[in-house]
Amino acid sequence: MENLKINVDKIYDFVKKEIVHDYASDIKKYNKALHDKTGKGSDFLGWVNLPSSINENEIKEIESVAKNLRKKCEIVVVIGIGGSYLGAKAVIEALSGSFYQIKKDKNNPIVIFAGHNIGEDYMSELLNLLDDKKYGIIVISKSGTTTEPAIAFRILREHLESKVGKNAARDIIVAVTDAKKGALRTLATQECYRTFVIPDDVGGRYSILTPVGLLPIAVAGFNIRELIHGAQQMESLTAPGIDFKENPAAIYAAARNALYQKGKKIEILVSYSNKLTFVEEWWKQLYGESEGKENKGIFPASVNFTTDLHSMGQYIQEGERILFETVLTINDVDGNIAIPFEKENLDGLNFLAYKRIDEVNKMAELGTLLAHLDGGVPNIMIIIPKLNEYYLGQLFYFFEKACGISGYILGINPFDQPGVEAYKKNMFALLDKPGFEAESKKIKKRLRID
Ligand code: PA5
Repeated sequence: MENLKINVDKIYDFVKKEIVHDYASDIKKYNKALHDKTGKGSDFLGWVNLPSSINENEIKEIESVAKNLRKKCEIVVVIGIGGSYLGAKAVIEALSGSFYQIKKDKNNPIVIFAGHNIGEDYMSELLNLLDDKKYGIIVISKSGTTTEPAIAFRILREHLESKVGKNAARDIIVAVTDAKKGALRTLATQECYRTFVIPDDVGGRYSILTPVGLLPIAVAGFNIRELIHGAQQMESLTAPGIDFKENPAAIYAAARNALYQKGKKIEILVSYSNKLTFVEEWWKQLYGESEGKENKGIFPASVNFTTDLHSMGQYIQEGERILFETVLTINDVDGNIAIPFEKENLDGLNFLAYKRIDEVNKMAELGTLLAHLDGGVPNIMIIIPKLNEYYLGQLFYFFEKACGISGYILGINPFDQPGVEAYKKNMFALLDKPGFEAESKKIKKRLRID
């Protein structure tokens, strides 16, 4: 079977090949540190061996709980934020039909998300939708104390309990959280909810291959075994013993860091399929939250082409030359639609007649790649043989491994996120949370709030 591939040939006009290859020995060391759990953030390296260590019983348990929810629910609301939602959302959006929420499939419940924002309008629309639907809840929070999902769960739990009764609700609420700590664990124990544990040593954004990602993905009807299988393959392909030139994660980490050193401070993840929008969102969280520290780190951005060629394309072609692109390209795309021939040819499109739409898309991709190179934007290509569970599994693990290595190249801890506390502290102070009184006074004075 083919594997995901990386091609960095198009960066060598901007950075010498030797400079990229010079990273090889450091990367070998950092990759080994990830596996030996000896580098920074070593308490959070459980993800490194997740694909090869997950066992049959764990998979069966997830499948059986998913089966129960699939049987009983038209809609399953997944509550979570950040790493507790983006992985599942990425897979479900990538593999569901583009119009799946409109074109209902009787065999699969629709999975929708909540707790990833504090939008009152969003919640009000969601409650209206759920009023006359049979629905269940998967609530996910590793810390069990995150405000956004906690608010959503409080509201939705009350809604569900008043609709079906407390006892029936218990059968269709599942909590995914820490084994012992946090308010969600306390609540789940008290209410006797079915629970899954997020391992202590796996941080949120690296948790897609735990029940955090696997349970919602299984509920949506996708094959989690294939996802795990793909990740297992990538775990082998990026193992510390693999030669630098054969290790796609090592090459990616080296290439992006070499470009960063040359002043390319923004990496744009590009896809030519709208189905990958949330894979890009997942990637932005992974890299942004892992690398943006100590006033360092590549800023992760994303676009969908050709859509955004008609908006952001201008900036990429001619704006500040601080960008590089990483292009996700899917070799074998589903569908088989050729552009029809028209005798009158009023739109002048007969030069495309009988060509598949995907052929046009692929030429747009190659044309753009060259145009951007000529405009001073180097690009890295990641070639995905097909969009399915197996290759998404490869892709997720590939990005995780490269992110760990990249973080170590940068000299930061890629597994913490101290910076996200700043907004929380201010928000709690403004909302008069007990314990924040002193901060509250200061902050209200600064904002001139009485
Ligand atoms: O990567 C991370 O650790 C974060 O993005 C978390 O996933 C996010 O903040 C949600 O945290 P929790 O699962 O504790 O609610």
